[in-house]
Amino acid sequence: MKYGRFNLILDPRGHDFADLAAHKMWKIWLMQDVQSKGKINYTANIVSDSPITREEWELMNTEKTKFFFDFDEGSNWLQKIVDIEENNNGLMRKGPNKMAEYIAAGRAMESIKPEGERICYDPYAIHFIGKESLRYFELLSRNSETAKSIMEHFERLYPGVYNSSVAKVRYFDDFVRTSVDKGLEQLVILGTGYDTRAYRIEKLKENVKVYEVDHPDTQCVKMEKIKEIFGSLPDHVVYVPVDLVTEDIGQRLMQQGYNRSQKTLFVMEGLTCYIPPKVVDEILSFIVKNSARGSAVIFDYFPESLVNGTCVLEAGKNLQNFVEQYNESFQFGIKEGTVETFLAQRGFSQIKNVTGEDFKRAYFHGKNENMEVCGLLSIVHAVIK
Ligand SMILES: C[S@@+](CC[C@H](N)C(=O)[O-])C[C@H]1O[C@@H](n2cnc3c(N)ncnc32)[C@H](O)[C@@H]1O
Repeated sequence: MKYGRFNLILDPRGHDFADLAAHKMWKIWLMQDVQSKGKINYTANIVSDSPITREEWELMNTEKTKFFFDFDEGSNWLQKIVDIEENNNGLMRKGPNKMAEYIAAGRAMESIKPEGERICYDPYAIHFIGKESLRYFELLSRNSETAKSIMEHFERLYPGVYNSSVAKVRYFDDFVRTSVDKGLEQLVILGTGYDTRAYRIEKLKENVKVYEVDHPDTQCVKMEKIKEIFGSLPDHVVYVPVDLVTEDIGQRLMQQGYNRSQKTLFVMEGLTCYIPPKVVDEILSFIVKNSARGSAVIFDYFPESLVNGTCVLEAGKNLQNFVEQYNESFQFGIKEGTVETFLAQRGFSQIKNVTGEDFKRAYFHGKNENMEVCGLLSIVHAVIK
């Protein structure tokens, strides 16, 4: 059967689940079902009134999944959405990037752990979590059993992904700090999302100009939040709203004061997989042609197999489904074992690839020693020749 994206009314009333975890498991199974995966848009859940459904309601209510006790109410809500989408003729504003919010939620979750236990620390991440996710977050922090069962579900679906994502943040942080110590003058963060390095790495504030480059829909939300947290936008940060796919990044950076004779670090965290290979090439080409000696690039990436659908790992398929649910798709990956050639051909040297196993050796000790990491996520950094 072939079909496009669809909305769903789920009415499991009369089919009691033993507990919230069992119900959630059934839902996850449905979302991952081979025929419906990545296709479900909005879901109206019609539930009978009970303590379990009320708990679930609070935990799982999102912009795209709502709960109703009454069938007509659920159906009216879906109809309204269809009407709005039709009226907008598919031209709805995309809104801020959901993935950026999820990643901030991961950082926030890690940051509440005790100092000796957490892998990364971002005290501002919590401010970038939307109301719905925040409610979910608060409930999880109050209910440790539910939190544990949801983390276990998450680990089953995406083994090691959470651990790798927080280790990745730590690696980027360490790399930025070391670069500042070695005389960095400019930091360009592409696809910044809710990255807060410019505000929490003190040394950056002294001598480094930071360019935050992001899609305008996300950047405007970020700027408002920064004003809320700090009272104003800091002087050392330049905000560059750009759609990297349709606009010329080089031109936009130059217009905003980027200096091609200064030592610069380009950071792309959680970005390359969401943009087409041609755009990745254009960005790398700009970096090589317009940066001073000793400038560098650091980015994370997935293997090509995750992008072209040949990845045999369950985690890979599940990740693909996850991003599709938020209208995103993986577009760029690098064939396993070829990252050095890939970057050397594009004019980079001193290429260092960092894998999940490297994260494990570097950061997972003591209580964290047996934590699983995800083999799909790697980081690479390199210097302009
Ligand atoms: C997954 S988020 C990562 C955010 C952040 N770097 C982090 O790791 O927390 C991807 C970011 O890339 C940005 N992005 C994706 N496509 C873009 C495009 N075409 N132009 C500009 N930014 C884009 C999104 O707005 C979002 O902020």
